[in-house]
Amino acid sequence: MSRGGEAAGPDLPDLQAEMTADEFRRHGAAALELAARYLERLDEVPPLAQVEPGRLVSALPPGPPDEGEDLGAILADFERLVVPSTTHWNHPRFFAYFNSSAAGAGVLGELLAATLNVNAMLWRTGPAATELEYVVCRWLAELVGLPPHFDGHINDTASTSTLVALAAAREQAYPEARELGLSGAPALRVYGSTQAHSAVEKAVMTLGMGRQGYRAVACDAEFRMDPAALQAAISEDLEAGFRPCAVVATAGTTATTSVDPIPEVEAIAHRHGLWLHVDAAHGGAAAILPERRWVLAGADRAESVVINPHKWLFTPIDCSVLLTSRPEVLRRAFSLVPEYLTTPEPDREEGMGARNLMDFGVALGRRMRALKLWMVLRYFGRQGLEARLRQHLAMAEWLRTQIEQEPGWELSAPVPLATLCFRHLVPGGGEAELERHNQEVLRLVNADGDVFISHAVLEGRFVLRATIGGLRTTPADVVRLWSALQEGAVAAG
Ligand SMILES: Cc1ncc(COP(=O)(O)O)c(C=O)c1O
Repeated sequence: MSRGGEAAGPDLPDLQAEMTADEFRRHGAAALELAARYLERLDEVPPLAQVEPGRLVSALPPGPPDEGEDLGAILADFERLVVPSTTHWNHPRFFAYFNSSAAGAGVLGELLAATLNVNAMLWRTGPAATELEYVVCRWLAELVGLPPHFDGHINDTASTSTLVALAAAREQAYPEARELGLSGAPALRVYGSTQAHSAVEKAVMTLGMGRQGYRAVACDAEFRMDPAALQAAISEDLEAGFRPCAVVATAGTTATTSVDPIPEVEAIAHRHGLWLHVDAAHGGAAAILPERRWVLAGADRAESVVINPHKWLFTPIDCSVLLTSRPEVLRRAFSLVPEYLTTPEPDREEGMGARNLMDFGVALGRRMRALKLWMVLRYFGRQGLEARLRQHLAMAEWLRTQIEQEPGWELSAPVPLATLCFRHLVPGGGEAELERHNQEVLRLVNADGDVFISHAVLEGRFVLRATIGGLRTTPADVVRLWSALQEGAVAAG
């Protein structure tokens, strides 16, 4: 095909706009070597960055370079300056928060996704990205035992997935909001337990329902939502003129991984016509194990379920799968198509169709997050994932036994999954003394640098918290965690 006729085009200096394929190969090999070396030597550095705030800022020039620099020098600075100021989430002894460890297959998935550099806002701008996302979400739903009518898409984080789910809940409860906003609307109310993640309340706030639009429901002694308290809260709110909108049940709460009684919560939510969102950001992964399927029992009747493969499924951050049985409501809540984004492909109400991912959330542009998840799920397979999850649960069980059997230590909550809340006791010490002592244990353990743990507050009690979910964590690492805790307790006096 001849294009451009005889025209010479603008007279511009010769510019090599991008590195050549050979340069890319050479630098790429160096970057991969650096990544492999980093992962290989992780064990030799502290998991928690042992630096003061401002360390990297003071090591970097205040302004950008005038002239382009050699990539070799940039990679060297990455290793020399950036890595030492990093907290290593891939570290085998990262036991804090809910850890997020990246499998090599997922890291390579990120590389290839960046190479394709697809923006899957529309099906036509990313057919493969859109369809791969559809497929991996289906795979994940199947792996955790959710039925085929669940449709999914991928967001950055569970906070976003929850925001999207609650926007759909608001759309269902008060569709007028789309045109009118919430001024003049009935006071909407969303319910979660006192142990629900703050992302739920933040989503309610962001969606214009105000913090008063969120009501925290009491838990039982094992930190699970009390269904009777939920029912009472809804009845009281109806009486007071609120319009209940959604219930969020958590499968794997942030502090203790307690699992709300989803079947009972579901019955109450649906009796009142409310949207049920299940926050299984961390705990959902456990349902891959047949013996832990109970974690998501009842979630098959939810309107939406969030599971973060970037938490306990070895996929590099960010990757949060939002599964929904009501994709049409999500679409009603979010679809707003300017003329320039209209497309000729037919979109179906159900199934894949030529869906446009921009219709399911706030973001227009979407990166190809599905690729890394696809690669991780294929690399491990169901059996490989099961084997790793079982190992984590067994290591947590070992640590639980140590804590229970060692005089002077107390388990502060049940251990339904692989996260433990516990504290070291001080003979005759009151609550304030216990908190001071355990704060000191926490500080000493993390300052020593062999392991990284975090803390939680359970009904006003300050407790230490360790989660076991890292891909590279071995039984020897958990033994080192237990030693570090015991040493920290002695040093704290
Ligand atoms: C139960 C639960 N839900 C939601 C979140 C928020 O996750 P994200 O960082 O993906 O927004 C967390 C974070 O740890 C969590 O524990």
